[in-house]
Amino acid sequence: MTTSSAPGKVYLFGEHAVVYGEPAVPCAIELRASVTATRRDSGLRVRAGDLTLDGFTVEYDSEASDRPDVDVADSLVDAAMGYINGAVTQARDAVGAEDVGFEIAVDSQIPLGAGLGSSAAVVVAAIDAVTRELGVTLDPAEIADRAYQVEYAVQDGQASRADTFCSTMGGAVRVEGDECRTLDTPDLPFVIGYDGGAGDTGELVSSVRDLRAEYGFAADTVASIGDLVRQGETALAEDDLSRLGELMNFNHGLLSALGVSSRSLDAMVWAARDAGALGAKLTGAGGGGCIVALDETPETETALEYTPGCADAFRAELDTTGVCQEGG
Ligand code: MEV
Repeated sequence: MTTSSAPGKVYLFGEHAVVYGEPAVPCAIELRASVTATRRDSGLRVRAGDLTLDGFTVEYDSEASDRPDVDVADSLVDAAMGYINGAVTQARDAVGAEDVGFEIAVDSQIPLGAGLGSSAAVVVAAIDAVTRELGVTLDPAEIADRAYQVEYAVQDGQASRADTFCSTMGGAVRVEGDECRTLDTPDLPFVIGYDGGAGDTGELVSSVRDLRAEYGFAADTVASIGDLVRQGETALAEDDLSRLGELMNFNHGLLSALGVSSRSLDAMVWAARDAGALGAKLTGAGGGGCIVALDETPETETALEYTPGCADAFRAELDTTGVCQEGG
């Protein structure tokens, strides 16, 4: 039995635009997904608990045709099953052990489909746990690459390397196309607001792709996000938190123009700004889920707690530990 864990993330800047080759800066946060892999003779059995902050359990055998009976959208469950199956296939392939069976237990603190990188964290941790269970320790670059292949397949070829690279390495990272590297950052006082909902990443990415194809100004908006990220990198290098906040506000406006915000995400963004946050934006694919704000004071967290539509508000520290084996 081998357990590995990997962190979730927030996007300081650049989600969606990163899919089209613009740079993005995701930052790992101290909410982790743990995956335990236990070798068995054949097949794949998966048990997943606490995939949302509210908590529920999915128990299914990936070889059975029955879908798990859980109170979340079918598309999210299908995606979760696709991510886990894909991770195990990649791990078996890495080790050359295609026929070995596994019992997989997922225990995640990261809400599903909420913009905090739950799928990337599960895939990265699963590849690490399964390969270690087979006696092989993969290089982080290979884990990140294989995890990206899984996301790429599940999201129908519309995925960037950002989530999977960040979850593998931990800390803040910069991703532009196939170029991925870690970044040094100042202390970033992240506050997260969660509306209790979720967005469908595949659908949201497709909707941006369609807009971009239809309207030149939508393509320009994507390119503007890239410009903004480059300015954000300078602000990061200069420890200029107020400039970072301003650029986050701008980034939210551009994502909103691309149609991926929602009423509850906007309400939380405005509550954070009114409470004095340096900046606030949605994080991840959007459609519902989480916003991230920058605020050293307790004001934003308190304001979010009283915001209608906000189910949970919490502070999140940067997690500098990427994927790792637990208790190993
Ligand atoms: C989803 O967490 C981030 C997106 O940019 C998609 C991706 O990068 O694969 C929306």
